Amino acid sequence: MASVEIVGLKKLYGNVVALSDITLTIESGAFFTLLGPSGCGKTTLLRTIAGFHFQDAGTIHIDGKSIENAPAHKRGVGMVFQDYAVFPHLSVSDNVAFGLKQRKISAVDIKSRVADVLEAVQLSEFAERMPHELSGGQQQRVGLARAIVINPTVLLMDEPLSNLDAKLRVDLRAELRRIQQDLGMTTVYVTHDQEEALAMSDVVCVLHDGIIQQAASPLELYNQPANKFVASFVGGNNFLKVVLKDAEAYLPSAEASLGPVSATQTPIVAAVRPENISIVLGEEKLKKGNVSVPGAINQISFIGREMEVHATTDTGETLKIIARPDVDVLELKAGARVKFIFAKADVILFEDNENGLRLEDGLRSS
Ligand SMILES: Nc1ncnc2c1ncn2[C@@H]1O[C@H](COP(=O)(O)OP(=O)(O)O)[C@@H](O)[C@H]1O
Ligand SMILES: [Mg+2]
Repeated sequence: MASVEIVGLKKLYGNVVALSDITLTIESGAFFTLLGPSGCGKTTLLRTIAGFHFQDAGTIHIDGKSIENAPAHKRGVGMVFQDYAVFPHLSVSDNVAFGLKQRKISAVDIKSRVADVLEAVQLSEFAERMPHELSGGQQQRVGLARAIVINPTVLLMDEPLSNLDAKLRVDLRAELRRIQQDLGMTTVYVTHDQEEALAMSDVVCVLHDGIIQQAASPLELYNQPANKFVASFVGGNNFLKVVLKDAEAYLPSAEASLGPVSATQTPIVAAVRPENISIVLGEEKLKKGNVSVPGAINQISFIGREMEVHATTDTGETLKIIARPDVDVLELKAGARVKFIFAKADVILFEDNENGLRLEDGLRSS
């Protein structure tokens, strides 16, 4: 059953359109992530679901009940904030108990419920500590415990990990996912970090300028981006110019055809991901199905497990390559001439216009 159903949601701030015609369905028990750059409307959408402000148009149903005009505390949602929002003058257990006390629940029940939730977030031994005696990661667990203790129908989280340092962020994202799965709690999660979104989610919904670009599983989003924006934001695709020549998509940078495309008037562009390009020094026989783009190295960064190379093709287009560190490549100086090789099968074609829609995959058979 769908747990959250949003139809035609619109939100304005003055004449700024923060959300424009948002329609989406979140299945019960799903970890659903809103992903997009700063200012795309993520927080606005989350807070509109929470009832912290009201939409200008559209409907929201939670478990089949219309809630778009209900006050926040009647919506059955729990919210976790970026800045933890714990009460500094209350102990961990009093912080967690707070929402239950407001609901007139017996002291015995509160005690056992708080103990259960502290155990779920692994804070049992910190129950009597004050927030200032906790690390950032522990404070955010208190924030999470406070949100889930009321047994919300939907858990909402707005960039809950972004104030934490990198290592802790990675640890805690695995743990958030585990807790969410243990509880089977429908979750709407907001982040601008594509890696976080891909790692945690059942469904990732990419937003841009208040408009949904694509909602799909992490794998589908990565491998089949619906448009140029998604291909750029998720996976960091490179884009190369394509011209049509005798009904074939022709890549000037490689002086090669990518294969036939159906007759179209629209300009098109080729996308290829940084990890799908290899760097070849000297001569090498080109394998069938591959293309070779000549160019020059601009900059190489060795970042341990991988190296990141910035380069320019002879046709003047920029490329980013991510590859396993290769001693011969690492020794190259800026300006060194190499070949960039990738498989035609790894190329995705998009319309090169404002919508930037993906072309059907027909040409890959060649
Ligand atoms: N209270 C507000 N008043 C006016 N404009 C706002 C307000 N809150 C957000 N906005 C604008 O709405 C858009 C979406 O903002 P927001 O939902 O905060 O984006 P995100 O969370 O994705 O960074 C942005 O253009 C932002 O400047
Ligand atoms: Mg935000």
